[in-house]
Amino acid sequence: MGGTTRRTTRDDDFATRLTAWQHGHGRHDLPWQNTRDPYRIWLSEIMLQQTQVDTVIPYYARFLARFPDLASLAAAPVDDVLALWSGLGYYARARNLHRAAQAVMTRHGGEFPRHAATIAELPGVGRSTAAAIAAFAFGERAAILDGNVKRVLCRVFGIAGFPGERAVEQRLWALAEELLPPIGIGTYIQAQMDLGATLCTRGKPACGRCPMAQICVALREERVAELPAARPKKAVPQRHVRVAVIVADGGVLLERRPPSGIWGGLLALPEIPDGEADAARWVATRYGLAAQATRPLPPLNHAFTHFRLEITPLLVEADGHGHMAADADHRWLALDSLADAGLPTPVRRILAELAAARP
Ligand code: ADE
Repeated sequence: MGGTTRRTTRDDDFATRLTAWQHGHGRHDLPWQNTRDPYRIWLSEIMLQQTQVDTVIPYYARFLARFPDLASLAAAPVDDVLALWSGLGYYARARNLHRAAQAVMTRHGGEFPRHAATIAELPGVGRSTAAAIAAFAFGERAAILDGNVKRVLCRVFGIAGFPGERAVEQRLWALAEELLPPIGIGTYIQAQMDLGATLCTRGKPACGRCPMAQICVALREERVAELPAARPKKAVPQRHVRVAVIVADGGVLLERRPPSGIWGGLLALPEIPDGEADAARWVATRYGLAAQATRPLPPLNHAFTHFRLEITPLLVEADGHGHMAADADHRWLALDSLADAGLPTPVRRILAELAAARP
């Protein structure tokens, strides 16, 4: 950021409060602190991307014992790197780390790049991680914006909207840059991470102990639980299906579902193909039954994770089982023994309603 950075009391307040809090309450003796070695700082930031501090600590120590510097990492077979990563998860991080070490050797002559913008060009390093490395290792005034920081900013400054949305994220980046203090950047960045990880947590924020309590918009307006806004729910598609409830001799015909798709492999009510105009005739032909009467039953809605299904049952009263004997994929289930049949919920509900309405 250049000399055009907007400075206001409010902004100074944020950085000043945060830095003061860090001295008394932040984390000071994590193994990657108190070093300015960009290799060690980079390694820690990559390991910490999707993993908790406590989990990272022993991995970090073992990794450095085997690869004490960038050159040793770049020269190692990737399988050795993956072996040391084993158990940390998200293995693309380890592959990218190895590729990035080689890139620093070849493209930067073995010197770790000093600016966030250049660091961000390395494989596996995003804008926020690059800024953290540049701030910790080289004291560059670069803003971070990870999930923790987004949460803190949304609450303290009362920013509505889902932070993953482009416009909101751009606003947060701009704010994060405005808030950067002129000096003491490493402490400030660490403080942002620590406040979000220890006090301004997602579930149970400790507002009573928070250094931002006096200036926090969310706290003042009682919106702490609402901010940051959740990801907007996508409209769930609505699907429709007709099913045949074929009843004969006090039993109902169940058919096994195809192995994939909803209720894969389970017994359920036969599905009437889309566009079949004469459902009764389709049933009679397909199952070799003489249909005595047909009657629509009340439709039923069922919510799946990715869509809603409206099921319209068609009751078909048949005269005997016809040539529809039970086999591996078909079963006549007595309407008075539904309870232990292990049916999908909507099927059980349709049949239970039908059974209850019968004399
Ligand atoms: N999470 C990401 N970076 C971190 C750091 N430097 N210290 C603690 N937790 C972190």
